[in-house]
Amino acid sequence: MDSEIATPEQIAEQLAEHTAEDKMAKDSKPTKSNKLEIAVETTKHPKSLPANESYGFGKFFSDHMFITEYSEVLGWHAPRIQPYQSLRLDPGAAVLHYGQAIFEGMKAFRGDDGKIRLFRPEANHRRMVASADRLCMKMVDFDIFVESLVRLVQTDINWVPTKPGTALYLRPTLIGSEAFLGVRPAEAFIYYVIASPVGGYYGDNIETVKIWIERKYSRAAPGGIGMTKAGGNYAASLIAATEAKKRGFAQVLWLDSSEKRFVEEVGTMNVFFRIGDEVITPPLGGTILPGVTRDCVIQLMKARGTPVIERPIGLDEVIDAHIRGDLKEVFGSGTAASISPVGALGHGDELITINGGKVGQISAELYKTLNDIQYGRIPDEFGWTMEIPLGAQK
Ligand SMILES: Cc1ncc(COP(=O)(O)O)c(C=O)c1O
Repeated sequence: MDSEIATPEQIAEQLAEHTAEDKMAKDSKPTKSNKLEIAVETTKHPKSLPANESYGFGKFFSDHMFITEYSEVLGWHAPRIQPYQSLRLDPGAAVLHYGQAIFEGMKAFRGDDGKIRLFRPEANHRRMVASADRLCMKMVDFDIFVESLVRLVQTDINWVPTKPGTALYLRPTLIGSEAFLGVRPAEAFIYYVIASPVGGYYGDNIETVKIWIERKYSRAAPGGIGMTKAGGNYAASLIAATEAKKRGFAQVLWLDSSEKRFVEEVGTMNVFFRIGDEVITPPLGGTILPGVTRDCVIQLMKARGTPVIERPIGLDEVIDAHIRGDLKEVFGSGTAASISPVGALGHGDELITINGGKVGQISAELYKTLNDIQYGRIPDEFGWTMEIPLGAQK
């Protein structure tokens, strides 16, 4: 019931009383390593910065990139920051033929206090290691990963936008670079990081999106690579997203591939349903990306005393709840938009309107709390943020 939903002040209080588990996460927070020798070549031709208003998402790239290569003989070698440029890649490279490509998506936030913070880099590294293992790739260890992000942000510090809601999006990427045409795992890899200033998804006010329930195409099957951030998953999703956009929807709601009965996730977000007093999200069963923001939502909801229930949720259950008037809120969670409330679901010819198409209370509160932590407006009781040392090496 609405009366049981905590106010932002109560949430802040509850966050202060974090659990032993969260405390452990905070205490094991990564620190920046100073061990790595990273060569730095700065650009002689800095680009002009785009205006804050025109960022959009992923349209512009900063002046520099981080790159390092792996070979069986040398291991990971020659880590460097260099001017943003094209890759030198053999046309026979594994990535171009057999799709050995994985990536991560994360942000550096310029806080209201002027500090720049990464958000949960250890979670992104853990997921990238899992993606690399599944695709038989070699991944850099955490020290190199975090250093690649820190050094790139330090070098392109003026590319971290200042306007509220904006951020510098970081895209760590790993590709198989060995040239051969037999189907087997590559033995040479390139790991690189590029950066793109991105706008706030919403202006000052969070807005709802319309989502199409996808019944024709599938994103991932059991035993496949749905839980990885592999480029191939996104290639497979494009046709459904394109058709949904033509129908006027922002993204698609994926159902399980075998029966098209259970909900899985939304486009590039995990999904939550508030039915009556419960908030439910599908469990991580191998076909869903284990979102970092999803985990934040679960921890935030636990801290406020209304734990998220992770269980399979059928589409028929969602529709029945809507008919009964119990479907109170639906929202997606992801790095790009943080929390994205769903105003309507396209179900064939029908449109299921949720909460009168308006932003729900839990969505609004989660959005605010997450943003407040990311921009350093409230104490980070979970130990999720990692401050980037400024004024250090360039
Ligand atoms: C398919 C998919 N699901 C879920 C998410 C949300 O993950 P995160 O919260 O780590 O951004 C993303 C975005 O990265 C995604 O691409």
